[in-house]
Amino acid sequence: MGQIYDNAMVIAQRIREKCDRKVDLCVVLGSGLGAFVDALDNQVVIPYSQIEGFPCSSVHGHAGNLVFGQLDGKDLVVMQGRVHYYECGDLKRVTLPIRILHCLGCTRMIVTNAAGAANVNFNAGELMLITDHINMLMAGSPLVGLNEDEFGVRFPDMSEPYNHEMSDILRKTAQKLGILLREGVYCASHGPEYETPAEVRMFQKLGADAVGMSTVPEVVVANHMLMKVAGVSCLTNKASGLSETKLTHDEVMECGRKVAKDFVNLLREGVRQML
Ligand code: HPA
Repeated sequence: MGQIYDNAMVIAQRIREKCDRKVDLCVVLGSGLGAFVDALDNQVVIPYSQIEGFPCSSVHGHAGNLVFGQLDGKDLVVMQGRVHYYECGDLKRVTLPIRILHCLGCTRMIVTNAAGAANVNFNAGELMLITDHINMLMAGSPLVGLNEDEFGVRFPDMSEPYNHEMSDILRKTAQKLGILLREGVYCASHGPEYETPAEVRMFQKLGADAVGMSTVPEVVVANHMLMKVAGVSCLTNKASGLSETKLTHDEVMECGRKVAKDFVNLLREGVRQML
């Protein structure tokens, strides 16, 4: 059996010993977006640090908890914080949590992040449904190396990286709630430094509407495992070169908190429809 598969199964079992609820849907929360867990009932909060082998994030603003919770009595599991490529330089480590969640039974994932707006028509404080992505992490693919057939095939299809049905539910939910939900292509850049203006111009030319430092590796392994994925970016700032101000992590976090209300409402109602 594959090494990653073995390891993910062992860690999934450790989690089951702490909380044995059946989960089909997982939500990954990005920087400053952890407030979504407050919307959940009957929470069981497990710090990553208490799950032997579970990758821990070192970034300020990422809580680092696995949270089991319920909406309308139905179960889901939430990752409050994630590990980024720039923290560890290891895409296997970045994506291990998604492998583990799959071993726990998850077949669907909603992935969220904070991102800079590369589309000049988009503004800080807006939400964007991710319709597709571009992998500009110089690290390449998390699937490099021996393929583990337990998870999926050697050459996975990526023609619908973000599931149309799940995306449509989020689109309709936003409409119903009167929340502006932009749509566009998310581009993953290497980080941890923010982009240069020239890099942002390049990403724009390639078709990017938003730029961030996460999400793409997780979505690739989720597709490898035939999980259905939807994605939402919280546009916390205009990307480098598109505004007068300098970029700071504090600004990103602050904006994340400001749009938290819309973000939480969209996610809560969207997830309700999906459960
Ligand atoms: N670039 C990359 N990552 C980000 C940004 C950005 O402008 N904003 C929030 N995360």
